[in-house]
Amino acid sequence: MGTGYVGLVSGACLADFGNVVVGVDINEQRVDLLRSGKVPIYEPGLEELVTRNRDRGRLNFSADVAFAIKSSEIVFICVGTPSQPSGEVDMSFVHSAARTIGQYMEDYKIVVNKSTVPVGTGDEVEQIIRQVRPDADFDVVSNPEFLREGSAIDDFMHPDRVVIGAGSQRAMEAVIDIYRPLYQADVPMVLTGIESAEMIKYASNALLAAKISFINEIASVCEAYGADVTAVARGMGLDERIGPRNLSAGAGYGGSCFPKDVQGLAATARRGDVEAPLIQAIDTSNVRQRRRMVDKLQAMVGDFDGKTICLLGLAFKPDTDDIREAPALEMIAALVSAGATVQAYDPAAMAHSQAEHPELVCCDDPYTAAQDADAVVLMTEWNEFRNMDLPRILDRAAAPKFLDCRNIYDPQEMAALGFEYVSIGRVSRRPGDGLEENSSWMVPGRFSPIRT
Ligand code: UDX
Repeated sequence: MGTGYVGLVSGACLADFGNVVVGVDINEQRVDLLRSGKVPIYEPGLEELVTRNRDRGRLNFSADVAFAIKSSEIVFICVGTPSQPSGEVDMSFVHSAARTIGQYMEDYKIVVNKSTVPVGTGDEVEQIIRQVRPDADFDVVSNPEFLREGSAIDDFMHPDRVVIGAGSQRAMEAVIDIYRPLYQADVPMVLTGIESAEMIKYASNALLAAKISFINEIASVCEAYGADVTAVARGMGLDERIGPRNLSAGAGYGGSCFPKDVQGLAATARRGDVEAPLIQAIDTSNVRQRRRMVDKLQAMVGDFDGKTICLLGLAFKPDTDDIREAPALEMIAALVSAGATVQAYDPAAMAHSQAEHPELVCCDDPYTAAQDADAVVLMTEWNEFRNMDLPRILDRAAAPKFLDCRNIYDPQEMAALGFEYVSIGRVSRRPGDGLEENSSWMVPGRFSPIRT
């Protein structure tokens, strides 16, 4: 139930494991689109996977929810769980899915929560189904997803672990069975109670977000004392207890998961009367980090009024057209409200960004976006920016100012090219700044952040 990001990726991958899947959605337009062979989201490899499994008859789409429920042994709830302004999770779609299941189920069903939901949702779903159909025979299971946009299929097919929380052996075995290719490939299966499975998802995302907020704060301290955060992250990450991943300092985390899930976990703690200052601080720190990008730009160009700023990258991260909670949006809002013109280029996220910010001047390539710009700001580390023709950017721009919010260039090389280059947690460089005395033997310290 639900053919959004999680439902579509999970459905297509489960079909590829040999299961027969019907993706059902109340949005009939979306179902029609999927039936005509189109995939409404940008995710590498998804269209081929959907097509292959449709052609083999294992994956179908329908708007007939009654039929879909009646004909399935296992029903996955994959509907959205947006944030409310208070940070609490809006559970209305999950509740409504549970009511629908209660309404149409006739024989034993396993109801799996795949949507990211606060701990305690398994119980809620069970109660709702019981209210609708008191004599129902069913089990509720929690099976959270750990999919990153841009590599969701690989994450599903080659996960670090599969988490299944169930209250009965019958349900646990049935859900393990649909993951048989992973089980047989010795992927660790974490089999636990429903509440623990629900917590694993939230706790994992909160810790991943905490690593990012932590390294962003370390970056600020590095700036104050002349240390280089990329060297610091490398040195920290080699400690196996810390690990190198999610330690890239940047513009702050965005996307549909980290901001929402961290706030959701903080709200869950509050609701349970639990003091959790650390969890709350992850979000506060991230909000500050995004604001710091605006402040850094202001320190470079002064008053934004009447300025032209080039933004490279709008998506919340590379390889997606998703702009939800993207740090670029905050930058655009600050610039536009202060009277600046924003010329932007992003390989995939331009249409979404312009719909949200009609004032945005969308350009066909980075060089057009840099034309007459008072500063160039890199917001998203798309690979194509890594090998850009930087002298051409410099030539087009009105001023040689470059704010790199993702640390993808070498400060010394940028200064040598003639840029006034500012990045995150590294010493800023001006044209003419010489190479550091010890730079020849410090090469490893100049590596880009480890990002796997
Ligand atoms: C995340 C989780 O990784 C995934 O397990 C979960 O199920 C859904 O949420 P996703 O939001 O797709 O996935 O993106 P991810 O690659 O984790 O990046 C999230 C944000 O953190 C991006 O804005 C990214 O730019 C930022 N980030 C990530 C950093 O700033 N530094 C890092 O080191 C890593």
